[in-house]
Amino acid sequence: MIKTDKSILQSLDSISSGVLNGENYSREDFARSILNYPAMMVPSVQEPIIQSLSKTIKGEIALLDPFMGASNTLVTGMKYGLSVYGQDINPLSLLLSKVKTSHFLFEELDEANKRILDLIRADNSSKVEVNFANIDKWFKKDVQIEISKIYRAILTESSLKIRRFFWVTLAEVIRMNSNDRTSTFKLHMRPIDEINNRNTSVVKNFESTSKRSIKSITDFSSVLNDSGFIKDGKYSKNVDVVWANTKKEIKTNRLFNLLVTSPPYGDNQTTVTYGQFSYLLLQWIPLEDIDKNIGFDYLRSTQAIDTESLGGNKNIEDTQTDDVLFGKSETLKKFVTQFDGSQRKNAGKVTKFINDLDLSIDNMLVKLQKDSYMVWTIGNRNVNKKVVKNDTILNELMQSKGVNLFTDLERDILSKRMPGRNNFSDTMSKERILIFKKPY
Ligand SMILES: C[S@@+](CC[C@H](N)C(=O)[O-])C[C@H]1O[C@@H](n2cnc3c(N)ncnc32)[C@H](O)[C@@H]1O
Repeated sequence: MIKTDKSILQSLDSISSGVLNGENYSREDFARSILNYPAMMVPSVQEPIIQSLSKTIKGEIALLDPFMGASNTLVTGMKYGLSVYGQDINPLSLLLSKVKTSHFLFEELDEANKRILDLIRADNSSKVEVNFANIDKWFKKDVQIEISKIYRAILTESSLKIRRFFWVTLAEVIRMNSNDRTSTFKLHMRPIDEINNRNTSVVKNFESTSKRSIKSITDFSSVLNDSGFIKDGKYSKNVDVVWANTKKEIKTNRLFNLLVTSPPYGDNQTTVTYGQFSYLLLQWIPLEDIDKNIGFDYLRSTQAIDTESLGGNKNIEDTQTDDVLFGKSETLKKFVTQFDGSQRKNAGKVTKFINDLDLSIDNMLVKLQKDSYMVWTIGNRNVNKKVVKNDTILNELMQSKGVNLFTDLERDILSKRMPGRNNFSDTMSKERILIFKKPY
């Protein structure tokens, strides 16, 4: 039975804050632990909402996440048998999403793992397989040698799907074994003493990580299988993840009737440096195993991915004037015009970010059918010690495009890993979930 707007509202509003805050979820759910990507969404937010909305949409549901990140939203959609499409500008997100949306059998991964470990153990070479600026700063020599052994062993696997799984495993191992601190997403060296005294065995770490990740990913495959969503060894609905810049396009010909996403909350440099986080990991993963169609040289510097992302400095040619943007969002105008001088310049970063977000929304709207729901999880941040009300600004941008708020929910994010807390406002301890309905 198709529900009415009123009953949908009731079921959305009755989702308890305990559920939204993740009381029923462990880190292992939905293969979330295979790579600790920044600012991952917890399925507790999307799952009850997707569940509720999926009962209201006629026919097949096609879900879009234009900022897929660790693809937790897509994977949650798959649990409900939806067709899913996601894109992201970060090649690491794409690799991770390709792995998480693929179907794996325990035996195929377990056998490959044994082959890989045998090769690593028999490998006496001290050749280092990659080279890049400052490699010795970021990796101790013995770590470089051990990573190279794993690298060579993964390359011998003939199946691309299997290799991708192990590249993700290696990425998680590199994250833990480089000289970069794991406490922030910005590239930042551990203290020298700590580096010298660290006694890590990269291979041992790879062994335990691959074991855990194989369990995690195949547990999720079993969930899909038990629900009857696996046919001929594959997910039976459409599933597609792509490298693309959402500010420029949604890179598919498909149309959607549900959008669930969580955008960045500001430019990467001053919020979450997804690019810097990915830089060292991507150095060790062959581009051709991720996707040959990635449209920029993401390894040219530690900043490359972040400047290409929303609010970054690239592509200023499609910048709307302040007046145009202020016309769309009074809250943005009030925020920016309260400052002068250098603070005003700093606030310009917010305008730039909102410009990019606004263009991204236009790209999404053309791919969404009439009456589609859009579920946005968004939080606020601080600039010049004042709160940027991203939630209100998003709502105003939507209104300027004739899209009205359907309802909204709130959740705590105290447990979420957040870098440089001073960049985030106190209200960052809450995230809002804004649900819109597209009337045309
Ligand atoms: C908060 S994360 C998304 C979390 C994700 N929904 C999940 O479930 O894990 C935001 C993502 O937006 C991506 N991003 C930033 N700018 C982008 C752009 N211009 N085009 C596509 N993706 C972008 C970042 O790389 C990052 O992965």
